[in-house]
Amino acid sequence: MRFDVLTLFPGMFSAVMGDSIIGRARDRGILEMNFIDIREFSLDKHRKTDDYPYSGGGGMLMTPQPIYDAYMSVAADLPKKPLTVYMSPQGRVFNEEIAKELAGQEQIVLLCGHYEGVDQRVLDEIVDMEISIGDFVLTGGEIAAMAVMDAVSRLVPGVLPFEEAYKNESHYSGLLEYPQYTRPPEFRGRKIPEILLSGHHANIERWKREQALINTYEKRPDMLKTAPLTEEDKAFLEKYIKSKGESNQICE
Ligand SMILES: C[S@@+](CC[C@H](N)C(=O)[O-])C[C@H]1O[C@@H](n2cnc3c(N)ncnc32)[C@H](O)[C@@H]1O
Repeated sequence: MRFDVLTLFPGMFSAVMGDSIIGRARDRGILEMNFIDIREFSLDKHRKTDDYPYSGGGGMLMTPQPIYDAYMSVAADLPKKPLTVYMSPQGRVFNEEIAKELAGQEQIVLLCGHYEGVDQRVLDEIVDMEISIGDFVLTGGEIAAMAVMDAVSRLVPGVLPFEEAYKNESHYSGLLEYPQYTRPPEFRGRKIPEILLSGHHANIERWKREQALINTYEKRPDMLKTAPLTEEDKAFLEKYIKSKGESNQICE
C-alpha cells in the first residue's frame, strides 16, 4: 500500500514512520510512504505557501497553488485519481471502521493543513474525504496523518506477523480487548488469573470473551449497543450486570 503525504513539514514524519513495525514494513516493501514538501512547489519568489485570509481575522491560510502542484506531482501520471484525504477537525471522526475502509485502498494521498487551514478552492479541487482524529484542534495535520497511517498500515496484510494480532484487539470486532498478562506469574503480590495457566484452550477462549465483555461494559458501555453479541454473550452480561446490582440498559 502506498501513502503520499502532502505537508509543509516532511521532517516530522521520519522518526515516527521510520521505526518499529511500520519502519520494518517499509523496509520490506509492504508499505510505501512518500513525504512531499509542499514548499518545493511554491512559485513565489520567496517560496511562500501562506497568505492572509480575505475574511480577515488572525492567522494565515495555506495558498492553493503549491498544494495543487504538489498533488499533481503525485497524481498526474496515475491511471485513476488516488483517494485524497484532507486531515481536518471538520472531517469524519476516525475510527477502526474507517481504518478498515482505507486499508482496502492501494494508494492514498493525505493532505496536512497548517496555520488557519487551507484555501477552500484547492480542497474542492482535489479532496475526496475529510478525516478528523477527534473533536479538538491541532496546530497541523501531521500528527493526525501519522495516527491515521499507523492505524491503517497495521491492517495491511503482512505488516503484523499474524492476523490475530489485530483481530483480537480493541475495536476491531466491536469490543474492547480482554486484559493481558505476561511473566512473571506474580508481581507485587498480584497473580495472573489461574485459568491462563490451566492449558485448557476452550476455557481460556471463553474467559477472554467474557473479560472483553466486562472490559467494554466497564469502560465503554456505549459500544455494547452496536457490538455483535451472541445469546451466550448477552446472558453472561446480564448475569454480570445483575451481580453488580445495576440495571441492564445494554442488552434487554
Ligand atoms: C489550526 S487547524 C485549522 C482549523 C480550521 N481553521 C478550522 O477551524 O476548522 C490547522 C490544520 O491542522 C489540522 N487539524 C487540526 N485539528 C485536526 C483534527 N482534529 N483532525 C485532523 N486534522 C486536524 C488540519 O489539517 C488543519 O488544516
